[in-house]
Amino acid sequence: MRRLEGRRAIVTGAGSGIGRAIALRFAEEGARVLVADLNADAAEESRALLATPGLSRAVDVSRGNEVQALIQAALDAWGGLETLVNNAGIGVAATAPDTGEDDWDRVLNVNLKGTFFGLKYGIPAIRRTVQGQPYSGSVINMSSAVALVGVPNRAAYSASKGGVLALTRAAAIDHVSEGVRVNAILPGTVDTPWVQNITASQADPEGARAAMTARQPHGRLVTAQEIAAMAAYLASDESASVIGAGLVVDGGFTAR
Ligand SMILES: NC(=O)c1ccc[n+]([C@@H]2O[C@H](COP(=O)([O-])OP(=O)(O)OC[C@H]3O[C@@H](n4cnc5c(N)ncnc54)[C@H](O)[C@@H]3O)[C@@H](O)[C@H]2O)c1
Repeated sequence: MRRLEGRRAIVTGAGSGIGRAIALRFAEEGARVLVADLNADAAEESRALLATPGLSRAVDVSRGNEVQALIQAALDAWGGLETLVNNAGIGVAATAPDTGEDDWDRVLNVNLKGTFFGLKYGIPAIRRTVQGQPYSGSVINMSSAVALVGVPNRAAYSASKGGVLALTRAAAIDHVSEGVRVNAILPGTVDTPWVQNITASQADPEGARAAMTARQPHGRLVTAQEIAAMAAYLASDESASVIGAGLVVDGGFTAR
């Protein structure tokens, strides 16, 4: 399917895992993609894999001036922007009492403030681009299943992703009449370098992975490509009536 022909998209955190899979899928569906990541080399690696000519750029999404410059770079290169995926994220594994204030600030700054900066600078650009067009623009925020259910040792991370879901709904209502749809994806446990690093750091990596798999009702981890498929749907006109939604892709994890 090439549902994104002619569309222009920015994906943050696209040097790895879910973001890379989304960038690749968007390009397969015909979009031009700007791959953005804190790690410039990883972003460039992803760009080289795209099926359409793309761009790559280093960005720290927790810095407003960098996000503003990222959006401007897309506008300078392409003259417009229809889609933004606020995917960049980090985690800290700790309970609230065990979370240092620095770690709290770091996680909230990247995951929640970074999403805020994406909306702050991305929505005006998307709104201008789609004005008078028969289709809507699309902002996709990466929340998590932990926005809905408690998971051990994820206090700051869960707070940030719950905030992303609430911010998604607020922005969806603010901008629906301007032709900009804002939605969130809530992945469960996805097999990415992030999760691979978590299991590798345990005393028994294979046991840790088996435990993660065992809590999945469908018996396996979610793939990054399955999250990318949801993102492509949300970026496309097929989801024209999907507004302010938190779409769960978790293998049944939150249905238990
Ligand atoms: N993997 C999972 O199980 C899972 C589950 C739910 C939600 N998520 C969310 O999906 C998103 C992607 O996760 P992933 O598993 O692909 O992780 P990943 O670690 O494989 O990729 C994250 C990417 O974000 C980049 N990044 C980190 N901080 C950044 C910053 N300040 N500015 C720009 N880029 C930055 C990293 O360099 C990396 O390339 C995150 O928001 C994560 O919270 C992941």
